[in-house]
Amino acid sequence: MCGIFAYLNYLSPKSRAEIIELLIRGLERLEYRGYDSAGIGIDAVDSGLTLVKQTGKVKCLRDKIEAQQDSLDFGRELDIHAGIAHTRWATHGVPSDINSHPQRSDEANEFIVVHNGIITNYKDVKQFLIQKGFKFESDTDTEIIAKLIKHLRDLHPTYSFRELVEQVIQQLEGAFALAFKSKYFPGELVVTRRGSPLLVGIKTKEKLASDHIPVLYSKDGCEFGGRSLTSRERDCPEKVDLQEGSADHRSHVYELPHGLARTESTAEFLPLGDDREVEYFFASDASAIIEHTNRVLYLLDDDVASVDSEGILKIHRLKRSLEDSHAREITTLKMEIQQIMKGNFSSFMQKEIFEQPESVVNTMRGRINFDNETVVLGGIKEHLSEIRRCRRLLLIACGTSYHSTIATRQLLEELTELPVMVDLASDFLDRNTPIFRDDVCFFVSQSGETADTLLALRYCKQRGALIVGITNTVGSSICRESHCGVHINAGPEIGVASTKAYTSQMISLVMFALMMSEDRISSQPRRSEIIQGLRVLPDQIKEVLSLDSKIQEISRSVFEKKSLLVLGRGYNYATCLEGALKIKEITYMHSEGILAGELKHGPLALVDEGMPIIMICTRDNVFVKCMNALQQVTAREGRPILICNKGDEEPQKYASKVLEVPKTVDCLQGLLTVIPLQLLSYHVAVLKGCNVDCPRNLAKSVTVE
Ligand code: F6R
Repeated sequence: MCGIFAYLNYLSPKSRAEIIELLIRGLERLEYRGYDSAGIGIDAVDSGLTLVKQTGKVKCLRDKIEAQQDSLDFGRELDIHAGIAHTRWATHGVPSDINSHPQRSDEANEFIVVHNGIITNYKDVKQFLIQKGFKFESDTDTEIIAKLIKHLRDLHPTYSFRELVEQVIQQLEGAFALAFKSKYFPGELVVTRRGSPLLVGIKTKEKLASDHIPVLYSKDGCEFGGRSLTSRERDCPEKVDLQEGSADHRSHVYELPHGLARTESTAEFLPLGDDREVEYFFASDASAIIEHTNRVLYLLDDDVASVDSEGILKIHRLKRSLEDSHAREITTLKMEIQQIMKGNFSSFMQKEIFEQPESVVNTMRGRINFDNETVVLGGIKEHLSEIRRCRRLLLIACGTSYHSTIATRQLLEELTELPVMVDLASDFLDRNTPIFRDDVCFFVSQSGETADTLLALRYCKQRGALIVGITNTVGSSICRESHCGVHINAGPEIGVASTKAYTSQMISLVMFALMMSEDRISSQPRRSEIIQGLRVLPDQIKEVLSLDSKIQEISRSVFEKKSLLVLGRGYNYATCLEGALKIKEITYMHSEGILAGELKHGPLALVDEGMPIIMICTRDNVFVKCMNALQQVTAREGRPILICNKGDEEPQKYASKVLEVPKTVDCLQGLLTVIPLQLLSYHVAVLKGCNVDCPRNLAKSVTVE
């Protein structure tokens, strides 16, 4: 996890105060990715580098920096400056100042680095560096990176900054996005990624001259730890003309992309005019960049991007893969800054719950024609006939995204007439599940970066299955590595607890089911009722949201309890799981979603007059069975809070409190029953004084296994 941010201004004068503010604001935007500690690395007032690091949230770092503004020389203006910043979610080493990033090579801060991800072979590298005389000060895996680059620079003092980073990443296993700064290369930055996200924002006064930055391939023959880097060298492009050199003389030769007569120093994407002023922003995601520029490029695994002393961004790779394109495209972000602000709401989560009437419309926009009842998912259309011929559908995800697959499985089985498997990504991998070439595998992920889901995707891709990504994050790893897919278009979700992404994921999968059954005449009445149900859904969501004050009142009756059970079955089972997860993660109260059919097989023993129970009982094909469960609960003195259809008096006789939601088609009912539980968890968290947007121990984007 963690968020990384880096900023470089080239011939764009800024005071140190402005530069520091830019770094801190970048971190504030990324805080949802981790908030155990934060830190920045900038040029020192005299020479060398200064680090400011602080345990706790970014606000604590801001306070620390403000207290030091004189010594940090806030007023001084700088034409060129490079700074790096980090907000941490601890994986190796407890949250503490010393474990905060940037991590450094030595006391003189020759090299500093910020890191998002996990280095799995850090123990071996650490051992090697200890033998070389390095002394470690933190418990992090990241510290080895800062020390390794210093070690390589000591061996090869003539290497460029970028070449050193290329050497470093050859030695790393695991996942990383990294930003480096060095006192030897002032005004330069090098960033790279493998497995963790990283994008670059480019801001110029004049329009960019090109939308593409060519990729340059390099080859190196460096020695590390007494052995040559043979495995990587073997992977280098064949055409590279490697020249023998002394240990200190590197032999980089750049292979030009096909059809492009460019030189290594190409700067063609920059404006051609005299004005060379440019600012670069590097971040784990677009929310930290969008307020500065909407021109961004997404780095791919093993890209090394460097800004050199002339302010030019270059992208290098050590090896070329067949799938690799020869340029990285500079794209325009569509995200608006207002979309990532809290507005009048007290938390992002609350805002995102109340955004659902619009976010579901955005998911359906341009895809469903409510008049002629057709559904077209542009990102899947081309693969539809292949999908129709498949052996089975597999839906793989984690957490809330997984619940969206449970919520839609029954409808997918009904409308596709295919076997549908749903799996938690971690368990799917643990089992080494057999996968066939004629399987179609869906990977559902809000962030598009969840490590377990991404690894499961690669596992299925390797075995030849068709990969369909369902994500909310354009340009994310899952999105790029899928053969086709659907953007759920819910808009940025900042609160760690997922809410609007869940309803949009469900709708995306429902739309897929509708598209699959388009040609089947027998399915038309069913398709029609679902499409008409979706048409009125936004208004029905508004109606459910109007229960907010009633739900707030109910939350007062449960917030001091130890545990809360959520019972239901059929299409509402996913709501039970999702509601219980929401309660757990943001209120820290134990909660369990229970399939009502399982009640008498164990959970009934928990029921007495003191146990808070929420029962979902709506008018569908399992209504009678749910009524049985309701009566079993009341027979044991339980007095459930009931979620039922508006005006349905029969189940209300057994309830202590009632929340009535509009009736919709059975397979869409979960979209309405989940909202009272989202609101309940929010209100309970507020009453308990919990941090709604940043629950303890959790982060928004789980980029580690
Ligand atoms: C819960 C929650 C998590 C995520 C899970 C997968 O509110 O947000 O359970 O759903 O970590 O994340 P994505 O959807 O980004 O793959």
